[in-house]
Amino acid sequence: MSITLSQAREKLEKYGQEHVLKYYGELSDGEKAALLAQIEVSDMDVIDSCRHPEELLQRGAITPLAAMQLPEIETERESFTAAGLEAIRAGKVGAVLLAGGMGTRLGSDEPKGVYNVGIHRKLYIFECLINNLLDVVRQAGAWIHLFVMTSDKNHETTVRFLTAHDFFGYQAEYVHFFRQKMALAVDYDGKIFLEEKGKMASSPNGNGGWFVSLKDAGLLELVHETGIEWLNVFAVDNVLQKIADPCFVGATIRKDCAVGAKVVSKVTPDEKVGAICLEDGKPSIVEYYDMTEELLEAKDAKGEPAYNFGVILNYLFSVAQLERIWSQSLPLHVVEKKIPYIGEDGIPVKPEEPNGYKFENLVLDMIHQMESCLPFEVVREKEFAPIKNRTGIDSVESARELLRRNGVEL
Ligand code: UTP
Repeated sequence: MSITLSQAREKLEKYGQEHVLKYYGELSDGEKAALLAQIEVSDMDVIDSCRHPEELLQRGAITPLAAMQLPEIETERESFTAAGLEAIRAGKVGAVLLAGGMGTRLGSDEPKGVYNVGIHRKLYIFECLINNLLDVVRQAGAWIHLFVMTSDKNHETTVRFLTAHDFFGYQAEYVHFFRQKMALAVDYDGKIFLEEKGKMASSPNGNGGWFVSLKDAGLLELVHETGIEWLNVFAVDNVLQKIADPCFVGATIRKDCAVGAKVVSKVTPDEKVGAICLEDGKPSIVEYYDMTEELLEAKDAKGEPAYNFGVILNYLFSVAQLERIWSQSLPLHVVEKKIPYIGEDGIPVKPEEPNGYKFENLVLDMIHQMESCLPFEVVREKEFAPIKNRTGIDSVESARELLRRNGVEL
């Protein structure tokens, strides 16, 4: 039983959001109950943040953090790989696929993972990722638990799709789905949009809530029961993503770091990727839009650019460290977005341009909560083919080219 209408009204009044009940009288009993339940669970405190976005993301002092680079990795490849395989065989490594995003830049209404990147045959993004993970399963001779994060917007389609394709050869018992939380979406005055007459507009709350959502779904118990000590978190949209890469796993364990972060050497100092660094002495990531001239020009002891390594959303977190920090809050990012809504006249509107804000926590901010981090360099052409857009940079086109160069038939 959720809150009553008068309790809902009271909460909305407190936040200046009474318009949410504008169509309440027109709703069916079921819709009324659903709206009251949504009002009850929604966090409205976050909305104030969009009124002072400049106060949200204050940065500390940025200094360089050296990465483990390719030559060093090459000399230790065998021993790192052996250590990684040992951990995988002992069941200590799990994988977490972040697939709750909306993929708006790709412009498909479907979950990104169901996108077909093939040309003469079908080759779905999910299939590419699972193929890559299966390579490690074969190498190790052991299955790896795969946790898949979805959102309310794409959960059913994702589960149906993967089930219908028999998980592309992955063993079903090793695949676990969980949903991330949603956050309200508001107009530029901080008023909550109605997506339907009986539903407030919301969007997935960013990829930073993955551990809390995994925990809330009860999956941390499975993590403990199976003895998983490391979780490799990765993005859905990099079709060359190496998952549970034994060499990376072994290096992070050997260096006794709380987290490992795969990084690539930046193409240009101002490339639009977050650069690994220290912030007030702790590992962190400085976003490309926060890079000052001074940081762009800074050099390390070898005379190389000091902030030269960009993250590719592939992190290996120690579970013990995650359990230490999970209740700490992450910075809130306020992002402009096109939000479909019910207009004044009750007619649905699908905006062509951004018309409001969504609120997100980001996984990259979790790096700053960790005590130590190993930035681990990988070869961009072999491991980084993100699909953000349909054409141009980081697109279906560029990813196809990289897949081809890596011998994947399209
Ligand atoms: P992006 O930052 O590229 O966001 O996500 P997106 O929503 O997929 O795409 P755009 O910006 O709307 O075009 C990076 C990774 O984080 C996941 C995505 O699925 C992708 O793997 N993600 C993002 C989530 O799991 N949840 C979110 O709320 C946001």
